[in-house]
Amino acid sequence: MKEENIIHNYELFDDNTLDNTIRPETIEEYIGQNDVKENIKIFVEAAKMRNESLDHVLLYGPPGLGKTTLAFIIAHELGTNIKTASGPSIEKSGDLAAILSSLEKGDVLFIDEIHRMPRYIEEILYPAMEDFSLDIIVGSEGNSRNIKIDLPPFTLVGATTRAGDLSAPLRDRFGIINKLQFYTVEELTDIIKRTARVLNVEIKDDAAVELAKRSRGTPRIANRLFKRVRDFAMVKGNGIVNLEITEEALNRLKVDKMGLDNTDRDLLYAIINRFNGGPVGVEALSSSIGEEVTTIEDVYEPYLLQQGLLKRTARGRVATDLAYEALGIAKKGNK
Ligand SMILES: Nc1ncnc2c1ncn2[C@@H]1O[C@H](COP(=O)(O)OP(=O)(O)OP(=O)(O)O)[C@@H](O)[C@H]1O
Ligand SMILES: [Mg+2]
Repeated sequence: MKEENIIHNYELFDDNTLDNTIRPETIEEYIGQNDVKENIKIFVEAAKMRNESLDHVLLYGPPGLGKTTLAFIIAHELGTNIKTASGPSIEKSGDLAAILSSLEKGDVLFIDEIHRMPRYIEEILYPAMEDFSLDIIVGSEGNSRNIKIDLPPFTLVGATTRAGDLSAPLRDRFGIINKLQFYTVEELTDIIKRTARVLNVEIKDDAAVELAKRSRGTPRIANRLFKRVRDFAMVKGNGIVNLEITEEALNRLKVDKMGLDNTDRDLLYAIINRFNGGPVGVEALSSSIGEEVTTIEDVYEPYLLQQGLLKRTARGRVATDLAYEALGIAKKGNK
């Protein structure tokens, strides 16, 4: 597929009303991802002891798990500035050259969706990452020459939902590679309670747990659902988020007991009802439910796989027994 044909729908997951006040700023406030956190703490500390820039960091994993948040926290812990860019927004080599030459010693350059950066731009990054040098061509055709500019040592933090789409030479230049995992119910409960505290809303323990269970292992979804439930509590109750209001609100929002939303269920129903439980190729599934292949792969499948509702086989996607059970569908015997 050509790059321009790829539409990344997971941006739709962004809740614009989610404000930055609930984003943790320090590594201590960042809940969960304990292995990643411990590693980063040690590498940051070592870099500071040596008075060097931190090695380049790649963060990957499904949307909403806290990659952007972590990039800002890394800069905070290093005590440096952060400049941000996103892969698809860097169109000309001059754009990247301008960003690179604006960096100061030790700064963090955060590039989101780094897998969507055009290859010819990527190539500018190689010497910048490796030798902190910028090789650019100046002058017009026939009269052009290469010049080399020294850059201050900096740390590139790259984030991507698809590590597999990164070219090998780029991936190899990251010294620290971290995969973010889905959060446990306990961790999400803590995140929801923290958000409630920051927003000055009272939430009952059992309500926080219920919300956490239905948040697809994802802090962004947990925070978004919390905000909607808070609205219900304000309008229909006394502002306190209790279990009853939470269940009512989530049912109205069509988020089921397992945290599956309409698209998750559509996807599983399609495999079971239209493709006999699978195996079915992701393209066929995509046209059947009207979602982009990349959205299915990046947004929906990771959680369904992790929950054991879906299996990926060489011949395609298969709905598991657990999926039949979750949707309350009897499995047909082998004919
Ligand atoms: N570990 C965490 N502790 C507390 N809150 C978190 C944590 N991780 C993420 N959040 C919250 O979840 C929201 C989404 O996180 P973030 O934007 O960092 O995700 P992302 O991985 O960058 O997503 P995308 O791939 O869509 O860019 C943030 O606004 C933040 O408030
Ligand atoms: Mg992000």
